Amino acid sequence: MTSIAVCPGSFDPVTLGHIDVFAKASRIFDELIGLVVHNPSKQPAFSLDERVALLRESLDDAGLTHVRVDTLSEGLLVDYATSHGADVLVKGIRGDLDVSYETPMAIVNRNLAGVETVFVLPEPEHSHVSSSLVRTLAGFGGDVTPYVPQAVARWYENRGTTRS
Ligand code: PNS
Repeated sequence: MTSIAVCPGSFDPVTLGHIDVFAKASRIFDELIGLVVHNPSKQPAFSLDERVALLRESLDDAGLTHVRVDTLSEGLLVDYATSHGADVLVKGIRGDLDVSYETPMAIVNRNLAGVETVFVLPEPEHSHVSSSLVRTLAGFGGDVTPYVPQAVARWYENRGTTRS
């Protein structure tokens, strides 16, 4: 049976930590979908189209061309997953805080639809990297290149300005 997993997130913007999680998860599952989710409780810095384009380009640059990229603008993640033949969600876990944040959602998603969540550990060098850190750093004119894929670094460079 083909195993299909969904790796959801805001990806605002995608970081090297995200890409590492995709690389690791793509060794576990036959098919992987990177799902750019509209989170109504967050006001994103990057538009949905920008987040999709940057994720696609970053995955391609990392040789992860087989990972599909899709969007979810409304509705439950588990409904998206089941309607696309996926019964697993993949979440990157950087530390205890991520476990505390993700565990209740993982249990609810299992209760809702029998969709399990697999926690993937990125390399320790990415354990401090988050999209919000990147946005904050960029907002103060700091160098984000150690933390983001080249496509995102280029985006910031080309703007000649920062979006925090
Ligand atoms: O990158 P983020 O912002 O931490 O990702 C959070 C995300 C998008 C994965 C989470 O908000 C989510 O699952 N949203 C989809 C809506 C949903 O199904 N919520 C129920 C979870 S209990």
